[in-house]
Amino acid sequence: MSAFTQSAPQGSSDPVLQINDLHVHYETADGAVRAVSGVSLTLNAGERLALVGESGCGKTTLALAIMRLLRPPARIAQGEVWLAGRDLLTLSDEEMRLARLADVSLVTQAAMNALNPVMRIEDQIIDGLVDHGYQWSKAEFREHVRSLLEHVGLDASVARMYPHELSGGMKQRVAMATATALEPKLIIADEPTSALDVVVQRQVMATLGRLQKETGAAVILVGHDMGLVAQFADWVGVMYAGKLVELAPVQQMVEAPMHPYSKLLLQSVPGLDEKRERLTGIPGMPPRLINLPPGCLFAPRCPAVMAHCWQVEPPLDATGSGRRVACHLFSENRPHTSMLEVDA
Ligand SMILES: Nc1ncnc2c1ncn2[C@@H]1O[C@H](COP(=O)(O)OP(=O)(O)OP(=O)(O)O)[C@@H](O)[C@H]1O
Ligand code: SF4
Ligand SMILES: [Mg+2]
Repeated sequence: MSAFTQSAPQGSSDPVLQINDLHVHYETADGAVRAVSGVSLTLNAGERLALVGESGCGKTTLALAIMRLLRPPARIAQGEVWLAGRDLLTLSDEEMRLARLADVSLVTQAAMNALNPVMRIEDQIIDGLVDHGYQWSKAEFREHVRSLLEHVGLDASVARMYPHELSGGMKQRVAMATATALEPKLIIADEPTSALDVVVQRQVMATLGRLQKETGAAVILVGHDMGLVAQFADWVGVMYAGKLVELAPVQQMVEAPMHPYSKLLLQSVPGLDEKRERLTGIPGMPPRLINLPPGCLFAPRCPAVMAHCWQVEPPLDATGSGRRVACHLFSENRPHTSMLEVDA
C-alpha cells in the first residue's frame, strides 16, 4: 500500500508508448488547422523525452491527444496511441477515464490552479482514488496521501491544508503527487514549471525526476527552455509546425544537433553553449497550419535551403542509434544542389 513499492527498470527496451502516424486537426471556417501532422514515436519504460519547439508547433495538442482530452473543434484525424498494449484511441470514454491517472497522467502549468479551493488537499487526492474504484479505509487513504506528499518533498501536514495555504511550488508538487497516486506508466508534464520562479522551477524539476526514478514511469516533458529540459531528459524531440523534425539522445542533440531548426533553437537558448556571445531569436515565423505548401515547412526560414526542399517533404529518417531527422541534408538520396552550411 505504501507509495512506489515497485520500480520498473530504468530505460529498458520495453515500449510503454507507441504513437503511430498521429494527425490532429482543429476544424475552422478557414479549413483544417493541422496542429499535429504524422507524429510517430516510441518511448520505453523509464525513459524521459523532452518535446521542444516554438509556440504553436503542436506540443500541447499532442499531449492532449494522448490523454484524449481534446475538445471540438479539435479532431484526431488519424493515428494510433498504444500505451501498455492498448490503443487509447479505441477505448470507450469510460475506459479512457479509468486509464487517466492509472496508466497515464498529465501535469500542466494550470494543474496547480485546478485544485478545488474549498477542499483539503487529502480529500482531493482521495477523491481521485475513490473515482478509480479504490475502497480502502479512511486511515489507509490518509496514509497513502501522506506517503505521496512526502515523495514530492512536502510535509505530511499539507494533507490537511487548503490550496490557498500553499505556495505555487507547493501546489505544483501536490499536482505531481496526484498525478503519481496510481503509479501511471506514463507521466506527461506540459510546461509544469513555467509559472514558477527559476529556483522553484529547478526544485520542481528535480522532484519530477526523482518521482520518475522511483515509479519507473516514462515521462514526456513539454517545454520551451532547452536548458531546463536538457538537464532532465534522455531524449529530445524537436517539433516544427506540427511535425517531429528531429529525435535524438539529449547529449547528441545538445552537442551536435542535425536539423537546421534544432541548431537555431539551441542557439536561441541562453546558457547552454558558453561560446555563444548573444542570444539570437529565430528569424521569420512558423507557417500557418492551414493549406500547407508542399516541401519542407521550414524552407522559408532555413539557412541551408535547397531547391529540392520547396518541392519534396523530407521524411523522418533514421540516422543510427535510434536518432531520427527530417531534413534533405541527411537524406540518403540527397540532391546535388549547392547549399549553405548552417552556422553552428
Ligand atoms: N481551438 C483551436 N482552434 C484552432 N486552432 C487551434 C486551436 N487550439 C490550438 N490551435 C492551433 O494549433 C496549433 C498548435 O497549438 P498548441 O497549443 O498545441 O501549440 P504548443 O506547441 O503547445 O504552443 P505553446 O508552446 O504556446 O504552448 C497552433 O497553431 C494553434 O494556433
Ligand atoms: S529539408 Fe531543406 S529546408 Fe528543410 S531543414 Fe533541411 S535543408 Fe532546410
Ligand atoms: Mg502548449
